[in-house]
Amino acid sequence: MQDPFGHRISYLRVSITDRCNERCTYCMPRELQEWLPREGILSFEETLRLVRVASRLGVRKVRVTGGEPLTRRNVLSFCAELCRIPGIDDVGFSTNGTLLAREASPGVPMASALHAAGVRTVNVSLDTLDRDAYRLTTGRDLLPEALAGINSAIAAGFELIKLNCVLMRGRNEEQLAPLVEYAGARGLLLRFIELMPVSTSEVLSDANFLPIRETQRLLEARYGSLVPEPHFRTNGPATYFQLPGRAQRIGFIGAMTNLHFCESCNKLRLTCDGKLRPCLGSYLEFDILSVMRAGATDAELERFFLDVVERKPEQHDFRGNYQTNRKMVAIGG
Ligand code: GTP
Ligand code: 5AD
Ligand code: SF4
Repeated sequence: MQDPFGHRISYLRVSITDRCNERCTYCMPRELQEWLPREGILSFEETLRLVRVASRLGVRKVRVTGGEPLTRRNVLSFCAELCRIPGIDDVGFSTNGTLLAREASPGVPMASALHAAGVRTVNVSLDTLDRDAYRLTTGRDLLPEALAGINSAIAAGFELIKLNCVLMRGRNEEQLAPLVEYAGARGLLLRFIELMPVSTSEVLSDANFLPIRETQRLLEARYGSLVPEPHFRTNGPATYFQLPGRAQRIGFIGAMTNLHFCESCNKLRLTCDGKLRPCLGSYLEFDILSVMRAGATDAELERFFLDVVERKPEQHDFRGNYQTNRKMVAIGG
């Protein structure tokens, strides 16, 4: 699948729930949280069918997101089915980590069960190692659970574990070095992410926003010049650097300040309520759930995917007049 701007689509992010056991300020708006009604959520069978259709159109990588995907029942059998779909050769999982150490079955933590199901990589949100700051950011006092979850993921033997740190001025500048040390000591790939106004535009005030460039300067003051690694890429839009004098790589996801951010975009998103979304930072989305429940054939669903890709914007609209009509927690990042 290729859009009119030459973006080749090979990566589908699938949100399987809008529910979450945390309340990150940048992800859920402060007003009363209401979950989507259950019948409006794609069943696992429906999601798997759509992934099969997407795989026939060239999707190779799927990332499972939420909400917190581990809050959904039977997520393990879903992941196992997903990993068996012909053509899907990379399944990743994005989680807040707090449930990874929980027992999936006696003696087997969730992290190991996911690994056994065929999931290759997990990305864990970790904005700070300070318990009070963690509680303020996520609305829950679950830092010990998140760290235990990361330990479980390490023990489970994943190919790669990434840590995602959303940058917030006044909240985690002081945490940059502790996070670098924490990740370095455990062989985890730390990425710093610019705050995006997905769920609410209020988060993006000058008071809150900490740009990548400034983050890099803060890191360089401590560690020396970062060495760009233009040839190292993961599947997503992050760019990577080497810390001088040690074998540690760190990544940056600069959606707001990197003007080339969208050039290499390779993805589509499927929200938990069955909307295909061609771009995180565009209000456009298309209701594939209704079409499917109205009896569409696989060929018709393929056509639907191609039509959505045809409408993929050249770049996101976060710097322009993006309207927050959706909560991040339902889109899955
Ligand atoms: P991999 O490279 O496959 O590990 O994945 P990823 O970085 O795409 O996934 P992850 O779920 O860890 O997301 C990390 C952050 O990057 C989240 O804040 C996402 O919202 C953001 N992100 C990922 N892809 C895009 C994108 O295409 N556009 C924008 N604006 N943000 C993205
Ligand atoms: N801006 C940037 N990143 C965000 N995430 C959630 N909401 C936002 C936002 N408004 C990140 C989380 C998680 C990933 C899937 O998305 O930190 O790691
Ligand atoms: Fe939950 Fe992740 Fe959103 Fe935080 S960012 S509220 S952990 S889905």
